[in-house]
Amino acid sequence: MRVDRYIFFIVFSVILLVAVLALRVMDWREQQDLLRPLTPRLGVTEAVLPPILPLEPIAGLDPERVALGERLFHDPRLSADMTVSCASCHDLAAGGADGRQFSLGIGGAVGAINAPTVFNSAYSLAQFWDGRAATLEEQVGEPLQSPIEMGATWSQVLGRLALDDDLAATFSRLYPDGLTAANLADAIATFERSLVTVNSRFDRYLRGDEAALNAQELVGYERFLSSGCASCHQGKLVGGNMYQRFGVLSDYFAGRPVSPSDLGRYNVTGKEEDRFVFKVPSLRNVAETAPYFHDGSVKTLKMAVSLMARYQLGHDLPADDIDAIVAFLKTLSGELPGAQQ
Ligand code: HEC
Ligand code: HEC
Repeated sequence: MRVDRYIFFIVFSVILLVAVLALRVMDWREQQDLLRPLTPRLGVTEAVLPPILPLEPIAGLDPERVALGERLFHDPRLSADMTVSCASCHDLAAGGADGRQFSLGIGGAVGAINAPTVFNSAYSLAQFWDGRAATLEEQVGEPLQSPIEMGATWSQVLGRLALDDDLAATFSRLYPDGLTAANLADAIATFERSLVTVNSRFDRYLRGDEAALNAQELVGYERFLSSGCASCHQGKLVGGNMYQRFGVLSDYFAGRPVSPSDLGRYNVTGKEEDRFVFKVPSLRNVAETAPYFHDGSVKTLKMAVSLMARYQLGHDLPADDIDAIVAFLKTLSGELPGAQQ
């Protein structure tokens, strides 16, 4: 009896051990598959990092809703005085941002935080620097109603658009309940999902085109990984998949007044540990979206990279490394999506 139980325990333990090992092996296989695009001749720390992956267009978007969203994105009737459209601050021919430190809203109102690009935003873990909108649909209502951006109300905008027979008919054709706030947000969000900038030189490199990057850009990619940038800027967007403090190793905000928008994710959660925490921005097309940082305070990519090293990694990088990283970042600029204009 005792022997029976003993054998039972041994058999049971062995089965458990085999099951655990099998799971680990599956896990490991999956990791290796993910890392395959990242293992050309660099042999650096990337093996432990979530890989940077090529961007893919988002499949299955209704082309008619995309087209309607595109129209609305450029439509100044979405603002109180009909002077400002989404495209005023997110110029698709200028990196999907406005090139200003702070945006200009209706009546020349000046914002308090730098406008990020709308390109590839569909792949972000949430919208806004502090992630306060969970979805692109949810995001739309905010600029529309913000007194310093479009300053409108939903009833004002919907009332106005309803007078446009052609637009109202398009809504009725594409949505069972026609022109509503939710459908307007859906159309714009659908258009935004089409704004994926595929086929950057770096993505071509990841897909196996070794000639897509020159020697300096390859060094930049290696330094980007080995200095630790990719511990925060990673995945499809080379960012956009986590929140991190700005000023991990040294206080970015020291010696200057702190504004409410500097508080970042604290404004959403109210938690002390979220003070100065921001969504790590995507570095896709970053060469097109100066000035940099949530406070739009930095004019050049070179300066942004050197400050990142100082504040996020705790050391200054040699000038050559900074130049190489900047050269690498420029290879992240993709093709403008065909759906725009
Ligand atoms: C007056 C300028 C202005 C207008 C008009 C404007 N935006 Fe923005 N947009 C901004 C700023 C500034 C932010 C960043 C705000 C923040 O993070 O708190 C932003 C953020 C966003 C984001 C989040 C991007 C990210 O990476 O987090 C999206 C998406 C977006 N806007 C889409 C739109 C759409 C759609 C419209 C039209 C309905 C619009 N914007 C109108 C200035 C503007
Ligand atoms: C600990 C996480 C972390 C590390 C490490 C890190 N970054 Fe960042 N990065 C951030 C955050 C957070 C921001 C947004 C800061 C802000 O404006 O509030 C940012 C912003 C940036 C920006 C500006 C983007 C824009 O659109 O304004 C660039 C460029 C950048 N990082 C490049 C780098 C490079 C290059 C490295 C390595 C030298 C690096 N980062 C290391 C978290 C990190």
